[in-house]
Amino acid sequence: MDANSDGRLWGGRFSKAVDPIMEEFNTFIGTDRRLYAVDIRASQAYARALVGAEVLDGAEAERIISGLAQVGEEFEQGDFEIKPTDEDIHTAVERRLTELIGPLAGKLHTGRSRNDQVMTDIRLYLSAQIPPLRERVQGLQSAIVDQAEGHLDTVMPGFTHLQPAQPILFGHWLMAFFWKLQRDLDRLSELEHRTRDCPLGAGALAGNPFDIDREALARELGFSSISENSLDAISERDFIVEFLSWAALAQVHMSRLAEDLILWSSPGFAFVELDEAYCTGSSIMPQKRNPDTLELIRGKAAGLIGRLTALLSLLKGLPSGYNKDLQEDKEGLFVAVETVFTSLTIAAGVIRSMIVNVERMEQAVGISDGLLATELADYLVRKGEPFRRSHALVGKVLRRCGARSCRLSELPMDEYRKISPLFEPDLKEVLDVRAAISRRSVPGGTAPAAVREQIRKARAKLRMWDKPHRQQVI
Ligand code: ARG
Repeated sequence: MDANSDGRLWGGRFSKAVDPIMEEFNTFIGTDRRLYAVDIRASQAYARALVGAEVLDGAEAERIISGLAQVGEEFEQGDFEIKPTDEDIHTAVERRLTELIGPLAGKLHTGRSRNDQVMTDIRLYLSAQIPPLRERVQGLQSAIVDQAEGHLDTVMPGFTHLQPAQPILFGHWLMAFFWKLQRDLDRLSELEHRTRDCPLGAGALAGNPFDIDREALARELGFSSISENSLDAISERDFIVEFLSWAALAQVHMSRLAEDLILWSSPGFAFVELDEAYCTGSSIMPQKRNPDTLELIRGKAAGLIGRLTALLSLLKGLPSGYNKDLQEDKEGLFVAVETVFTSLTIAAGVIRSMIVNVERMEQAVGISDGLLATELADYLVRKGEPFRRSHALVGKVLRRCGARSCRLSELPMDEYRKISPLFEPDLKEVLDVRAAISRRSVPGGTAPAAVREQIRKARAKLRMWDKPHRQQVI
């Protein structure tokens, strides 16, 4: 290897050793070793491209390719030995290849730079993560739909401002999260498309001076196109920004789901009981059953928002070309992939295993008599009263009920009629929770028929991805 005697790959013009603390600061292999498989795959494809460019002959390329396969095997088996001079995954792989096949390894980097190499690796890495992430989003969606289907008669108070607002079906609440996740899936497919330009051949910044066939290289690596400008190719990180934004939003959606369930599993609400598999106890208070898993899902959203902000801040003042700051893009990316993947898996488990306390929810609807106040106002509207006036009249009804400590259904008819002669005995029919819910049968409403329709559409969306045409979305 034409490198420093200490094994460094770039030391030719250096006469002094680096400060050990600088060495440690600069070392990235602990983080980017996750890229070993894609790094090796991209290098094998590049060796073939070098044959086309007549830099390597076929036999040389074969020795490099099988040497790389052996390096990959060592990583796979967990016996790849990291050396102190291994700055990052690219230098580590090349160093080991040199040990295995000798100076021929030095030909592999011809015309290539770690700048286009690392971009190729991250793009390959991220596009490989998208299908499993998609599958996990759908796993959570299926858990939601399955639970929702069993709760088309379970009523609960719907909240605004965390104040009881109008009765809804528990299935309707659940399905609200299905659609958030559905948009997350759409966004994932859109950004997936932008991970699929191949930067290899961009060189350090100005392009590859050997006659490599970039189109063939891109095809071989499974990319759908090549990047159009070498300077852009090595310095842009847009697709990572998009992915972090996706991840932060998906985590925020799960965080909101978690927040509702944390509240509702607290004894004050007791709407749901979380399975013990997702709770912990307290070291001091024996009665506690803490929803730690959900709290972590909620808490980790903060970290992902931070990662997105960090990357945007990293990019905003960077001069053109590669700058080492860009190495900092990777940790956030890896953390985001791993956090969202795990959170989706856990959230699906929580939803599938939780016990829904149907009676408690029904009681809560009963306690919040005011949940039906809108029904009374709508009743007057149907009798010709303008809504604003109806609203004010029902306000008076509520005040009367407050003064007499009675429920809307218990207020005597003559009291109602003192407030408006439009109130007639048939008003009792509107003061029924299930009737109120059923009236909202507009598409998207909470009536059982409308929620059933939502579920039908949701299942069709889930099935769509099972079909072979899903590949074409890319
Ligand atoms: N480990 C580096 C990174 O992740 C690879 C690129 C290094 N390029 C360079 N010119 N020093 O960004």
